[in-house]
Amino acid sequence: MKGLILSGGFGTRLRPLTYTGAKQLIPVANKPIIHYGIEALARAGIKELGIVVGATSREVEQAVGNGSRWGISIQYIQQEAPLGLAHAIKVSRKFLGNDAFVMYLGDNILREGINEFVKNFNTNHPQGLILLTKVANPQEFGVAVVDAHGAVKQLIEKPKDPPSDLALVGVYIFDQHVHTAIDNIQPSWRDELEITDAIQWLLDNNYKVESHMVQGWWKDTGKPDDIIEANLLVLEDISPAQNGQVEDSTLTGRIRTGKGSVIIKSVMRGPIVIGENARIVNSYIGPFSSIGNNAVIENSEIECSVIMEGALLKNVEKRIDRSIIGKNAVINVTDQSPRTHKFILGDQSYIEIAK
Ligand code: TTP
Repeated sequence: MKGLILSGGFGTRLRPLTYTGAKQLIPVANKPIIHYGIEALARAGIKELGIVVGATSREVEQAVGNGSRWGISIQYIQQEAPLGLAHAIKVSRKFLGNDAFVMYLGDNILREGINEFVKNFNTNHPQGLILLTKVANPQEFGVAVVDAHGAVKQLIEKPKDPPSDLALVGVYIFDQHVHTAIDNIQPSWRDELEITDAIQWLLDNNYKVESHMVQGWWKDTGKPDDIIEANLLVLEDISPAQNGQVEDSTLTGRIRTGKGSVIIKSVMRGPIVIGENARIVNSYIGPFSSIGNNAVIENSEIECSVIMEGALLKNVEKRIDRSIIGKNAVINVTDQSPRTHKFILGDQSYIEIAK
């Protein structure tokens, strides 16, 4: 079985972060999101992985490499434009050949990985196997109707009146019949070749599509709040490791510090990860925070946030909460007069100030 990770797309919902980088490379617990998917596929025994890339191909290749660090081989497949999940399969036809494959959306994280899911496919050999999870708001997802044995009967994209609360998770397994399905579908109203239409074609032509329920949590990191939530969920499982230097500080809970990082006169309450060569002085870092390499935090308070590498936060005494601070961003509170706010913000930046 091969693997196909989708790492193209525009990531419009994550602007401004995606103006300067791929959404699949945004760090969660200081690790690029796409690495979680690659690890899940490698753990499930997949050795040959294709990664579909778009406009951000160079940086994705740079952050991932040839797969040797996971003991697998990785090929990159260029998609000229994000024309849909089924289109991503179509451009990967040569790489996939007639092998069964796992398609994994590069912005998804699954706590329990996909071992059981792959085992299910290898035992039952349907033409398609989809992964489902119960959600409270099915009208925002692709939803599946399944029978008592888990066989899929119907798929509906964002239904106004949902017939079930089982949402499609961004991981699928197909055999070679999916290529025939894709050759027989037309682009949707949004001009994309939809994977739900390809699956519906398999169902309409009497092929077997089965379902598997997610174990553990699943997170699609499409929007800023999803990144913060994914960061929180991953940090809940971290084990502590001290590689940095700590002076006059109180550290409680599970905290990982990277090589060369320095924590001085600060209070830290885990779970927290700190990257390499970060500097935290006279500050409070609260639970569920990730601080990237070379970040500097002075006289500031942070909680439940993702602070990326090279960011500088200085004298921000009012606590920064549920925030994402991009690479090399600066927040500096000064006592200059007049007392003004000065902002140099990229397009679609977001600031919320509580009085
Ligand atoms: P989406 O989240 O559906 O799309 P997007 O990344 O363009 O985001 P937005 O809606 O905010 O603009 O895509 C899911 C995953 O699949 C994501 O990792 C990008 C990838 N993808 C492709 O590689 N090719 C495609 O044609 C599409 C639609 C998505």
